[in-house]
Amino acid sequence: MIKPLKIAIAGLGTVGAGVVKLLAGNAELIAARCGRPVVITAVSARDRRKDRGVSLEGVDWYDDAATMAERADCDVVVELIGGADGMARRVVDAALARGRHVVTANKALLAHAGAELAAVAEGRGCVLAYEAAVAGGIPAIKVLREGLAGNRIQRVYGILNGTCNYILTQMRRTGRPFGDVLADAQRLGYAEADPSFDIDGVDAAHKLAILAALAFGTKADIAGVHVEGIRHIGATDIQFATELGYRIKLLGIARMTETGLEQRVHPCMVPLETPIAHVEDVFNAVVVEGDFVGRVVSEGRGAGAGPTASAVVADLMDISRGRASMTFAVPASRLVDAPAAPIDGHRGAYYIRLMVRDRPGVIADVTAALRDQKVSLESMIQRGRHPDAMVPVVLTTHETEEAAMRRALQRIEALDTVLEAPRLIRIEAL
Ligand SMILES: NC(=O)c1ccc[n+]([C@@H]2O[C@H](COP(=O)([O-])OP(=O)(O)OC[C@H]3O[C@@H](n4cnc5c(N)ncnc54)[C@H](OP(=O)(O)O)[C@@H]3O)[C@@H](O)[C@H]2O)c1
Repeated sequence: MIKPLKIAIAGLGTVGAGVVKLLAGNAELIAARCGRPVVITAVSARDRRKDRGVSLEGVDWYDDAATMAERADCDVVVELIGGADGMARRVVDAALARGRHVVTANKALLAHAGAELAAVAEGRGCVLAYEAAVAGGIPAIKVLREGLAGNRIQRVYGILNGTCNYILTQMRRTGRPFGDVLADAQRLGYAEADPSFDIDGVDAAHKLAILAALAFGTKADIAGVHVEGIRHIGATDIQFATELGYRIKLLGIARMTETGLEQRVHPCMVPLETPIAHVEDVFNAVVVEGDFVGRVVSEGRGAGAGPTASAVVADLMDISRGRASMTFAVPASRLVDAPAAPIDGHRGAYYIRLMVRDRPGVIADVTAALRDQKVSLESMIQRGRHPDAMVPVVLTTHETEEAAMRRALQRIEALDTVLEAPRLIRIEAL
């Protein structure tokens, strides 16, 4: 008799309920492709009475998810609670201790404890799978770990947060300021009531740390990610970006450099002729550059019940077929600690926006500060001829070192004709 793959699901929120729905809706197709059915034997969440819009008939309910993870009658524990510690961590620890495979969508947990958990999983002969943790429905993990396994990865980057991409897209389309568009996104359910995790870049940093670990064989290092969010992006910057031939995108970028592992999450000016410039709304994109394959671009929905469930179920189907990959592509014992490349050493071109008092001599003072730090200008846009009014001045530079750029900006900010803190956005060569 064919044995089904028995799974227990911890967490029945957006993703958990989505997984239950997908497994029910596509049960036949999944069984045909795996050679056996995938069956939910147990579930756990906080509120037993909540209507989740899915049938849980015949499925055992646990109030305590960690107890469920220890249940004998289960091959895989699916952790869909979330958070780097607390119950999610207890569930994963309990499952691995009992020799159960684990599938999770939990980027915070993987970014903070990925190497440690990978070692435990491998020691117990278990799979720790996390396709849903990065870029939702895009099979980004599979692309890096399997599809491009033979390549030396030169760079991995992407639009890793749909909420930020939605806000930046709407700001450009409507010309409205950040705060108004964020409020809309919250009304539409694209942003949380507390949006800081998304808009301050933390969520994207978690995903980048996981991608970097896979791409470069390093221990996931969330502390080594330089993170800036999108709160300071003004409608003015979005307009100037278009005028200069760019789109502003929140990117996560990882690269191995001579000084260490570069991991950056921040708004970027992205040239309009690159594919990623046209990834709009809530969509995500992941770009991998390998030495033999060249550039591979994947685009899709990075969040939501359906796309995320699609990724969770793909992991379950791999386990069901007996296909096991090492958590971060190499044995956990071979993952290395790479030093973080300091952002001060970053080299690139910059977009600078100043708000200045429209007076003779302002531009001369600004360009002198840049010249003294050997920052060479590529272009300048100066608007308005209203004596003494506040007007924007936009500068773009040639490639320069970040530390020099910062020193020049400090001097510029101290000028009494400069009325606001200068805005800096890195121009990314993609
Ligand atoms: N939402 C997305 O689009 C998305 C995309 C990619 C990855 N993820 C990741 O997927 C995971 C789940 O996200 P989600 O959006 O589905 O979250 P969610 O809607 O908030 O659901 C969380 C679930 O966990 C349950 N839960 C919370 N504390 C628990 C505890 N102590 N014991 C047992 N169950 C507990 C909740 O129970 P109640 O329902 O009873 O309150 C709820 O069912 C997170 O790691 C998230 O980062 C989400």
